[in-house]
Amino acid sequence: MSFVLSPASSPSLPISLATSLPDALHYQQKQQQQQLYLEEHALSTLVQQHGTPAYVYSRSAIIQAYTAHAQAFASEKHLICYAVKANSNLSVLKLLADLGAGFDIVSYGELARVLAAGGTPDKVVFSGVGKTAHEIRQALATGIKCFNAESVAELGLIHEIALDMGKKAPVSIRINPDVDAGTHPYISTGLKENKFGIPAAEALSVYRYARQLSGMAVQGIDCHIGSQILNIAVYADAVRAVAAVVRQLEADGIQLHHINFGGGLGITYDQEQAADPQQLYQLILHTLEQELPDAQKYQLIFEPGRSITGNAGVLLTRVLFTKKNGDREFAIVDAAMNDLLRPSLYQAQHRVIPCVIPLPKKQPQQKEADHLCTYDIVGPVCETGDYLAKNCRMHPVHPGDILAVLGAGAYGFVMASNYNSRPRAIEIMVSGARHAVVREREQIADLICQEHVVTDF
Ligand code: LLP
Repeated sequence: MSFVLSPASSPSLPISLATSLPDALHYQQKQQQQQLYLEEHALSTLVQQHGTPAYVYSRSAIIQAYTAHAQAFASEKHLICYAVKANSNLSVLKLLADLGAGFDIVSYGELARVLAAGGTPDKVVFSGVGKTAHEIRQALATGIKCFNAESVAELGLIHEIALDMGKKAPVSIRINPDVDAGTHPYISTGLKENKFGIPAAEALSVYRYARQLSGMAVQGIDCHIGSQILNIAVYADAVRAVAAVVRQLEADGIQLHHINFGGGLGITYDQEQAADPQQLYQLILHTLEQELPDAQKYQLIFEPGRSITGNAGVLLTRVLFTKKNGDREFAIVDAAMNDLLRPSLYQAQHRVIPCVIPLPKKQPQQKEADHLCTYDIVGPVCETGDYLAKNCRMHPVHPGDILAVLGAGAYGFVMASNYNSRPRAIEIMVSGARHAVVREREQIADLICQEHVVTDF
């Protein structure tokens, strides 16, 4: 699936970059340079027009990633509910809605985005441990497909609101299968000590409770064991835990309509070996068929986020200065932890590559490694934890050079903040030779317009 830029196809490209790049991203030789392209756009040209920092998304890469999920399931009754939290730009949501996606939301804000983008509420599932009464009311009024409830207390509140509105609330109950997803502790969600879901051992009694609530229509069961999962074998453990509960429910006469296995499929940021949706779904289906003889009667739902948008986006940033402190060489750039939090928060490794590489003038006997420097790519925020990448081997960079941080299409812009009073980056979508600004760059005026200077204290 990945576009491989082999040294043979691009003889002048440094060996260090002649490795697999995400789809839609490639170098092209122009005069005396290698230029990084996303679809048909030279990224260095795009920033001449729109500035940095800039998030740029490839429309075709999103389509390709979504289609890989949808096709892997073509023969089953299924619904792919894209996890809005990964990238909630309206143009991304509109594209996915047009492709037939449903949506997994975790707030009323995300529901409002889905609706503003043209998504239909009957394909929306509402996850999250802390839904407010206001959010439940809004979602019920809108007519969403299902609440993914996470506690008895939440079921009680949904029921109360449904009765008050004269409605029957469609619910699924999230099971905590106590499975170790083997990922960063902050994004592991399926262990019994995590705040998510209800213990599988309590599921039957919770379903019995929900069944007798007149304002409730019990529709499904769900789980989500974590994110950036590379060892997909852990999904089989989750399937077995969920199937065991479904068997108990069937024996008790509780018939569900759907089973939802959440999201979590990992992607390649750097050297990781990630599975593709086909492998994941085959494993899940195979395990499910072993565990539940009548598995095909259930609609299967998945909530992928990162694996749809993650490798469809880059963050472009400009080198401001370089400097050496002790034995560390720093490239100080104009994007920071407020733009891309993942490295600071999870020590996540994103690949950083230059948008323009001058052709080497080296003598044939010189090795490429002789030309490489090792940089820590850091932002201007006043924290040592503010970095985008560490120990990054690349050709010498200079002030004004544009760098691309890869794998920034998911959990990038959505986790951005205004820390240090830095306006949030512009977002751009490219499609073939066309591009569009899908979110304007924030202005300083946007940062202060909601504040009041108190003068009469
Ligand atoms: N469904 C539920 C209930 C979730 O909590 C999540 C993600 C997903 C689906 C989508 O998971 P995905 O396919 O994207 O892995 N900020 C972190 C990731 C947090 C994920 C939270 N839940 C990061 O940057 O790695």
